[in-house]
Amino acid sequence: MNKIKIRGGRPLRGTVSIGGMKNSALPILFATVITRGVCVIENLPPVGDIEITLNILAAMGARVTRHSPTVVEIDTSDLRQGTAPNALVRCLRGSNYLIGAELARFGQAKVGLSGGCNLGARPIDLHKKGFIALGATVDDTADYISARVDGSLKGTKIVMDNISVGATANMMLAASTADGTTVIENAAHEPHIVDLACFLNACGARVMGAGTSVIKVRGVKELHGCHYTILPDMIETGTYMVAAAVTGGEVTLKNVIPRHLEAVSAKLREMGITVLEDSETITVRSTGRFGSASILAVPYPGFPTDMQPQMTALLTLADGISTVTDNVFNQRFRYIEELRHMGAGISLDEKNSTATVIGVKSLHGASVTALDLRAGAAMVIAGLAAEGETVISDVDNIRRGYVDIVGKLQSLGADIEYVE
Ligand code: UD1
Repeated sequence: MNKIKIRGGRPLRGTVSIGGMKNSALPILFATVITRGVCVIENLPPVGDIEITLNILAAMGARVTRHSPTVVEIDTSDLRQGTAPNALVRCLRGSNYLIGAELARFGQAKVGLSGGCNLGARPIDLHKKGFIALGATVDDTADYISARVDGSLKGTKIVMDNISVGATANMMLAASTADGTTVIENAAHEPHIVDLACFLNACGARVMGAGTSVIKVRGVKELHGCHYTILPDMIETGTYMVAAAVTGGEVTLKNVIPRHLEAVSAKLREMGITVLEDSETITVRSTGRFGSASILAVPYPGFPTDMQPQMTALLTLADGISTVTDNVFNQRFRYIEELRHMGAGISLDEKNSTATVIGVKSLHGASVTALDLRAGAAMVIAGLAAEGETVISDVDNIRRGYVDIVGKLQSLGADIEYVE
């Protein structure tokens, strides 16, 4: 069923458990390619992108055994290099990680062009520059990227031109078995980078400094299998925080790391919404009335671009005028047209980078589209608050990154269901 129907206006109340972080699970699953053993990975989010990733690994010859929806065992001993099916690779942005992982394991890589959410241009020049700095030659064709090194990759200093989660992770993968030490400067700080470093280290790698701007990777001969538990998903957490806020409800999120949400919590508090933290829970309490805010999406630890659409949906109902600026991706505001169908007062500057949101008293239900994963989450948030019925189409985009969003929202009292 590829539509979600919501009858809005019910305050969310209750407790919901957060799953593992999709954007950690992707590089970690692709990192199993480097190992020559069995990895057991827990707290895996059973979402669309992860299912596709497991199918890619299985198609390449990995033995993938599901112990439960959130626990998987992967044995990549017999993996065949360069065999990832293009049709699956192009469904994901994260399939780029196969280039670094295949290079680290086999000294060569051949991977189709990646896809993922349409957020505007998503070049991989920084990835390619990094592989070349490590000693690989890289060739592009219309369908593939291939890379190869004679002998092994050589540790070196890589200064990233700008902060990229994907390029940082790919360099960590490639450098894990290089000769000598690689220093990645201007590295991304995201919790998923730290999670990947912890996974690699559990497999015998020597990664230091993850979570800071300088990451050092001392190459080791090979990686072995391990048992690893993925961190909770900060974006799923933030999405339910905003959903609680917009409906004037009170929701407690379990199995979270409050520190990862500091930028989101700070903004919600600034708007007059109560956010309470415990060691592993966050509670959001809202009266349904809140002030405006000015948001700037930047790399971690700043306000995450992956929470920008959900926050904009919230701000459509704020008292006053808000601004939301996002320069990370150049087409991340395509969804505002959908919010306008619901009565939101939003305009976009000519550079497509700053939205001005004039808060309205109420939104009304409408037929809208989940244009991408987080834009889809924004439609759900708007639908939960709107008067009347909202029907969201293309919800496969939402299932790519949210575990059982309909079931979880129903358990909090939302009137939401899948429909044909
Ligand atoms: C990852 C996340 C995505 C999130 C984004 C930013 C995954 C699978 N996706 O995407 O959800 O929105 O981080 O937090 O983890 N750039 C270049 N050249 C490159 C690489 C990136 O110019 O070679 C630019 C991008 O166009 C963008 C910026 O760097 O403007 C950040 O992109 P990046 O952090 O690489 O995003 P992804 O890893 O694709």
